[in-house]
Amino acid sequence: MKIIEPHKELNQSLFMITAKQNCTDFDSLIDDLNNHQYEVESGLRNYGAVVIRGYEVKTPEQFQQVGLNIFPDLRNQYPGGAPRYKVAEYVWTASSVPSYRSICGHTELSYSPSEQPPYILFFSPQVATSGGETPIINLKSVLSDLPEQLQQKCSHSRLVTKFFWASTQKKLFDVRSWKWPWFSSRKSWKIVFKTEDKGLVETKCFDAGGQTEWLANDGLIVDYPMPIIGAHPITKEIAWTGWFPWFHIWGVCIDAWFAAKYQRKLRSWLVFLTLFLITFGQICLEKLIPERRKYRSLDVVFEDGSDLSFWDVYHIVKSYWKNTELFSWQEGDIVILDNYRMGHGRLPFTGERKVYIAFS
Ligand SMILES: [Fe+2]
Repeated sequence: MKIIEPHKELNQSLFMITAKQNCTDFDSLIDDLNNHQYEVESGLRNYGAVVIRGYEVKTPEQFQQVGLNIFPDLRNQYPGGAPRYKVAEYVWTASSVPSYRSICGHTELSYSPSEQPPYILFFSPQVATSGGETPIINLKSVLSDLPEQLQQKCSHSRLVTKFFWASTQKKLFDVRSWKWPWFSSRKSWKIVFKTEDKGLVETKCFDAGGQTEWLANDGLIVDYPMPIIGAHPITKEIAWTGWFPWFHIWGVCIDAWFAAKYQRKLRSWLVFLTLFLITFGQICLEKLIPERRKYRSLDVVFEDGSDLSFWDVYHIVKSYWKNTELFSWQEGDIVILDNYRMGHGRLPFTGERKVYIAFS
């Protein structure tokens, strides 16, 4: 096992553990982890991100074994609403957002602080042909890189994320659901909560810090309040909590802009343009029929009910990109992030890319 300490001057903030030559098999990794548990822990404590590279990790089950070796308390239930599938007792697929779209930066389950996992683990047995980097966002400086007025607002307010689910699975005209050539189906609340009992749904939401509102057409809106900045549970360091700009109607379009500026590919610009037109169309429709806003698949407001403006979201996404290091995957890589200190996302990609995740 070789340990590569991050170098600030190289803009490298990831603590990397690499296999020694001729000791790259899976058993060597488990031995190394057993003998160097302290290095992994201190890497996470000091840098918030650890990469394990160069070992022969090929399957979700092996990834699970590594995960359990470091975090014996891995979760076997994922409480969030992201589209992912379980592939082993403690392992899920990464979110199945189409490859041509970017996923804005966020921390996992930031909208539901009581359920937020302290650590998130990623594993990639197959990397993209091009693109597909994981932006790793250092959340410490996100707030200070915002305009003064927005900093003030974010320091003294919480955000409320609103999820809408219809009573039956259906396609929604919503920019978040765009999937070439039309829109993907959104699950019903009965499927999401695995019950038709409204009382049970209310209890589950309440336990996760949410408040339910039933609509006349049997649809459901759940509000989750979250702080925008908070203290790290161990280090007590104050940082941005990792709000997901995807929740705002302009968020995906703005992130696509930054992704296209970075990738400089025709496809990225076309995706940005499409997202812009859909978002604009959706907003125009809501101006004509104001009650449509209730049926956004996702929405977000400040706690006092005021909206985040386009420019608020633009500055937040810009600050994420400013504080990002793009991680390029190699086959078999495992990345562990302190989910209170480091956000993550995904850039558009081509080819086949497989990423699995686990949570402690
Ligand atoms: Fe995520």
